[in-house]
Amino acid sequence: MKIAFFEINDLEKKYIQNDLKGHKLFFSKEKINEVDLSLIENAEIISVFIYSNVNKKILSKLKKLKAIVTRSTGIDHIDAGACKKKKIKIYNVPDYGQNTVAEHTFALILSLSRKINKAYDQTTKGNFSLENLEGFDLKGKTLGIIGMGSIGRHVARIANGFEMEVVAYDPFPNKSLEKKFNFRYTSLRELLKNSDVVSLHCPYTKKNHHLINANNLKIMKKNSLLINTARGDLIDTPSLVKALSEKRIGGAGLDVLEGELLIKEEAELLSLHFPKKKLETLIEDHLLLTFDNVIITPHIAFYSEEALKRILNTALEDIQAIIKNKKCDGEVKI
Ligand code: NAI
Repeated sequence: MKIAFFEINDLEKKYIQNDLKGHKLFFSKEKINEVDLSLIENAEIISVFIYSNVNKKILSKLKKLKAIVTRSTGIDHIDAGACKKKKIKIYNVPDYGQNTVAEHTFALILSLSRKINKAYDQTTKGNFSLENLEGFDLKGKTLGIIGMGSIGRHVARIANGFEMEVVAYDPFPNKSLEKKFNFRYTSLRELLKNSDVVSLHCPYTKKNHHLINANNLKIMKKNSLLINTARGDLIDTPSLVKALSEKRIGGAGLDVLEGELLIKEEAELLSLHFPKKKLETLIEDHLLLTFDNVIITPHIAFYSEEALKRILNTALEDIQAIIKNKKCDGEVKI
């Protein structure tokens, strides 16, 4: 079978070549729109990332195309209507990193609760004093999870291991989860009022814009920690800076920052085509960098070897199923 891959790096290329031995493979680092399509006119499967715009024009040139496998969750870069008409199937990667993001959430929580970043700074300067490094136990503390979806549930599972009490707010509660993940639903107000650690795991939508703002930062416990591995625009940054300056909360662990809206999919950060300079400027602009009780990571909660392999493996499993004419979970209903 002739299979063409776009927006692929050298490591991914090697991995794919090993998995798809015996097939005619074409690889390009570029988006599909930048490639001479006569090179792949007989392709039966194409695999793309989100910067490839698979439009009518492209589809009309690929007469033998049966399937498009996108190595992303979103499919808005593919003309699904045109695919349906031409009976071309679309496959995506719905989940790849719930545990990965949950683990990073705890990396941020523990860095703050045990002052790891401060301690590291001190010891690299040869200072082994314990002054200012007293932390606090997670055992017995309350963790408030905002958004009890796939990632929120993994966070609850880990928190149970620390013997934390877990409460959650979600506008679409699923009561059957409470027993399974040992937590109880509460209102947003109660959650903010009672939690020692508040962690955001809901999507960004217009409705959720500045879900954490001046008003509800006031409700949070003094010394509580605010963790955000979801989306930066869920938090009103100037209000967070104010709350930190006035020592109204104990610290913040942020993997995402306000203004990052240009990121739709985490894997975009790995793409050649992502304007990384803009992110650097954004991070430089944030006053948050000046607090020693704030830890910022550059949107890496998804970025583990295993999560990246899961993206590629899911795409490859889908391709193997297409080759064998078998049904598979990755098929998107269009
Ligand atoms: P999910 O869709 O499984 O769960 C999201 C949950 O949030 C749902 O239960 C939904 O009902 C709830 N929700 C929606 N609006 C809410 C609100 N206003 N308050 C409280 N809950 C609300 O999503 P998943 O997979 O758990 O991911 C959560 C978010 O994490 C994603 O939307 C994404 O923005 C972010 N993310 C960040 C990554 C990173 O590398 N930093 C990697 C992957 C996801």
